Amino acid sequence: MLLTVNGTTYELEVAGHETLLNVLRERLSLSGTKLSCGRGECGACTVLVNAGGAPRRVVYSCLTLAAACEGVSVTTIEGLGGREPGTLHPLQEAFIGHDAVQCGFCTPGQVLAAAALLEVNPSPSEPEIRIAMSGNLCRCGTYPKIVLAIQEAAQRLA
Ligand code: FES
Ligand code: FES
Repeated sequence: MLLTVNGTTYELEVAGHETLLNVLRERLSLSGTKLSCGRGECGACTVLVNAGGAPRRVVYSCLTLAAACEGVSVTTIEGLGGREPGTLHPLQEAFIGHDAVQCGFCTPGQVLAAAALLEVNPSPSEPEIRIAMSGNLCRCGTYPKIVLAIQEAAQRLA
């Protein structure tokens, strides 16, 4: 199959049961996408997918079969910033600036979920942010800082 990740198309043979998460981490060495619960409860494995010019939407890569991703474009945390290595997306800068990262394990998924939100709602209210982020759990409980970071990034991107 052909799998497009962060703008690069890979030709891969994947087993029918192989998850997108496994392909990203173990075969493409994109370890920014995290495995935590492995069963659709935490959002640590969140990536963005889109097809046909539609807005990017979040999926749990632990529940997504890689074989089902032929023809869609996948964005992982490694591909959210600019093309130059080390170039951060405003959301990433805002998460750092607001100290919205504690252990950091949930952070790639949090940032990608926030990116998907801002693409369809550039100026979300706090309740809208909390609803949009409700599929991404943070055991450290840094939710207030995450909300502040998203609000700041929204202003910067406006
Ligand atoms: Fe996929 Fe938790 S690892 S939702
Ligand atoms: Fe999210 Fe720790 S920063 S789980």
